[in-house]
Amino acid sequence: MEVVIQPSAEAIAVLVADAIERLLAAKPDAVLGLATGSSPLAVYDELARRCAAGRVSFARARAFMLDEYVGLPADHPERYRNVIDREFASRVDIPPDAVQGPDGNAEDLPAACAAYEAAIADAGGVDLQLLGIGTDGHIAFNEPGSSLASRTRLKTLTAQTRADNARFFGGDVGLVPRHCLTQGLATIMSARHLVLVATGRAKAEAVHQLVEGTVSARWPATIMQHHPHATVLLDDAAASGLQ
Ligand code: F6R
Repeated sequence: MEVVIQPSAEAIAVLVADAIERLLAAKPDAVLGLATGSSPLAVYDELARRCAAGRVSFARARAFMLDEYVGLPADHPERYRNVIDREFASRVDIPPDAVQGPDGNAEDLPAACAAYEAAIADAGGVDLQLLGIGTDGHIAFNEPGSSLASRTRLKTLTAQTRADNARFFGGDVGLVPRHCLTQGLATIMSARHLVLVATGRAKAEAVHQLVEGTVSARWPATIMQHHPHATVLLDDAAASGLQ
């Protein structure tokens, strides 16, 4: 696992955008894995700038989202599909139907999860998966205790994650959904390059466990230690728990 410490989220975003630009130059129809939350926002800003400047094109790319809340109305601004459209897809030249996410409003949620796994496999797998990390060590919404062999499935969000995400729902934890569909840890580990971004002191303990802890479902992100090509980009605060 490669650990890179940078002075700011913007400096991290430049390095991640460089990796995505290189990938798309070599493979214009690359498959990207997209994360939501705060961590990738600077990356999406940088990619939008580079796309507008003609440095990078997503016209032939495809993208798969990590996760989705269950039960949010289709037009809810915090539905992850809408967040990705707002923060990324609408600002670059990727065709709208080239971006897919798990269907958190499907009548048959297990069938939707199986269909999502099949869609990722049919696309040839993910070339570069962007990740954030939760304060409890989750990646996607694989909360502590998640099977290291898990695939896309229904999960219950922990009280900690719902509290962390209340800021996206006007600070009201009661409005944060209780369930989600999420790629599993084994799904994520199938991607060819994992790129995790973490900033801020609140992530320091999770980052310490990710990089220096024992691989365990207690801190799900630790599975990344077994990945042959994983890059972790941190600011000084997120790196402050490293020895
Ligand atoms: C979101 C996701 C989550 C977030 C994590 C960190 O798609 O998969 O694992 O990456 O909760 O969230 P932020 O970046 O908001 O701190």
